[in-house]
Amino acid sequence: MTQPSDQSAALDNLLNESRAFPPSEEFAAQANATSALYAEADADREAFWAKQAERLHWDTPWTKVLDWDDAPFAKWFVGGKLNVAYNCVDRHVESGHGDQVAIHWEGEPGDRRTITYADLKREVSKAANALASLGLRAGDRVAIYMPMIPETVFAMLASARLGLTHSVVFGGFSSEALRTRIEDAEAKLVITVDGQYRRGQALPLKPAVDEAVARTPSVRNVLVVRRTGTDVDFTPDRDLWWHELVDGQSEEHTPEAFDAEHPLYILYTSGTTGKPKGILHTSGGYLTQVAYTHHNVFDLKPDTDVYWCAADVGWVTGHSYIVYGPLANRATSVMYEGTPNTPHEGRWWEIVQRYKVSILYTAPTTIRTFMKWGADIPARYDLSSLRVLGSVGEPINPEAWMWYREHIGGNRAPIVDTWWQTETGAIMISPLPGVTATKPGSAMAPLPGIAAKVVDDTGAEVGKGGGGYLVLDQPWPSMLRGIWGDDQRYRDTYWSRFAEQGYYFAGDGAKYDDDGAIWLLGRVDDVMNVSGHRISTTEVESALVSHPSVAEAAVVGATDPTTGQGIVAFVILRGDAKDQGEQVIKALRDHVSKEIGPIAKPRQIMVVPELPKTRSGKIMRRLLRDVAENRQIGDVTTLADSSVMDLISAGLKSGS
Ligand code: WTA
Repeated sequence: MTQPSDQSAALDNLLNESRAFPPSEEFAAQANATSALYAEADADREAFWAKQAERLHWDTPWTKVLDWDDAPFAKWFVGGKLNVAYNCVDRHVESGHGDQVAIHWEGEPGDRRTITYADLKREVSKAANALASLGLRAGDRVAIYMPMIPETVFAMLASARLGLTHSVVFGGFSSEALRTRIEDAEAKLVITVDGQYRRGQALPLKPAVDEAVARTPSVRNVLVVRRTGTDVDFTPDRDLWWHELVDGQSEEHTPEAFDAEHPLYILYTSGTTGKPKGILHTSGGYLTQVAYTHHNVFDLKPDTDVYWCAADVGWVTGHSYIVYGPLANRATSVMYEGTPNTPHEGRWWEIVQRYKVSILYTAPTTIRTFMKWGADIPARYDLSSLRVLGSVGEPINPEAWMWYREHIGGNRAPIVDTWWQTETGAIMISPLPGVTATKPGSAMAPLPGIAAKVVDDTGAEVGKGGGGYLVLDQPWPSMLRGIWGDDQRYRDTYWSRFAEQGYYFAGDGAKYDDDGAIWLLGRVDDVMNVSGHRISTTEVESALVSHPSVAEAAVVGATDPTTGQGIVAFVILRGDAKDQGEQVIKALRDHVSKEIGPIAKPRQIMVVPELPKTRSGKIMRRLLRDVAENRQIGDVTTLADSSVMDLISAGLKSGS
């Protein structure tokens, strides 16, 4: 495990950051959140969450807020029953908001769709009837491998409506990644598209599903949305067109209430071993916390705001803040299919101007990309509608924070830097707009109702100015309920590091500043964060060594000015491959892309004669990171063979 102190270079800069931006009086006067929330939550946490759960419609009220007897397996809102899709859709129609726009959708080629809450109810009901007609029953798993189109949202909500458990697989993942996820969850249905638009091109997606499903016997049907019109192979009896199956269905569907702990979805995320973890989320507590956080952190006013979370629905940010949180709160959202520079670098700002977006939520890597493209691009558009800006996915450096504030937020809109994880389900640490005086680069403090601490190696809380590990010391409603099919791994991964204290270990390093504000410092395990996406070093290493040319591989995340971290691989090649030069490097990069997906493609692959290992055989990634980041190489005394680093450095100098 990396010591948090290893990250001190970036940290020194951070802690010199002394600017603070208190909320304007005008914003504070109208804000959803007030400082009283903190006191209320501190006085009685469970009563506080019980009150938050009142944001939802419950068919059967719960009898107990939290059951933690079987820790670390939590039950929230015990005995309560609800339907998640009803809460996100029908109740808004019933309260007279059927004509309100739920989704302003914009396709990459420029096609547009407007979906009201009444439309959403019809589409979700038809899709639910369609899924039921395929024989799917509550508890069955459905894999959703789709781009950012409205049908993806319909499919998720239709699953939720029937009590099916969805597993959304990011459309940028490979066929192999899809296959392992289908297999792990034993999905009976895959919902996909013929193809997807990416950077102005129509790329086929269905062939990846065909390849995966050929080896996953659990799958009975593949339901295909026509998006690009690309020709696809159809397997009779197994494959169905969405428009043929769904369009003819009844628009009426009566939702059934499910237990608060009914599984809502599984979402796979990288762990420190090669096998992704199926993070399990359930219904009542999850929906409560995403609705609560979305309301307070983004200050959502459902009648007037236009909200845009520019994540992909294939990540947890898309689940919680494109689908469940905003829809539970009756938001009007923007959903955009494509990349930010298609067909030009002002595409996002054109969208903000067109729909008068008032709340924007994105990742630091995207902000840094916009910085690179230049402030003159957003300056050409009217961004005056923006009133809250959010950031998520990785630590945001103060420069990016200030640029976001000035060039996007007009020095007016508060910025909320939100820390959370796939596992936490919802935002945990964040300023509250209208309440918190923000500091550029700090996520500030746990939200009301949430408990987090920075502790040292022994689990003792560090003082102001101290650094250590971030832990969550109280259960929270949207917490993961486990790892699909692997209770032991759930205990080992999150609850063993500070077992004595009963803390959840997040895997992040953090520090308190002199005022006690929290600064996140990045992962302390072997998980990389590339453009806000979690990728484990082991996963990429396994992909590399599965190639016949590779004898051994070690992967590190090296600091990257745009993507946060970049993947750098060190490989020892086998016999003949050594003489193939650049060709083999290209083959390896393509191989990783095929095994995991393009996001996992190493930025750089270095061929080395040896890898630095400890006497017990563990690769010392710290030293490889020094090489990858062009730094003086650190302490080599624990290496089994201390001359290895000389060999590596010498080889790299002469080789390239
Ligand atoms: C990192 C994304 C600093 C962190 C919602 C965490 C952050 C991992 C922030 C989870 C932030 C997320 N500041 N780091 N505001 N938000 N992270 O599961 O390392 O894709 O553990 O969830 O991203 O990534 P995940």
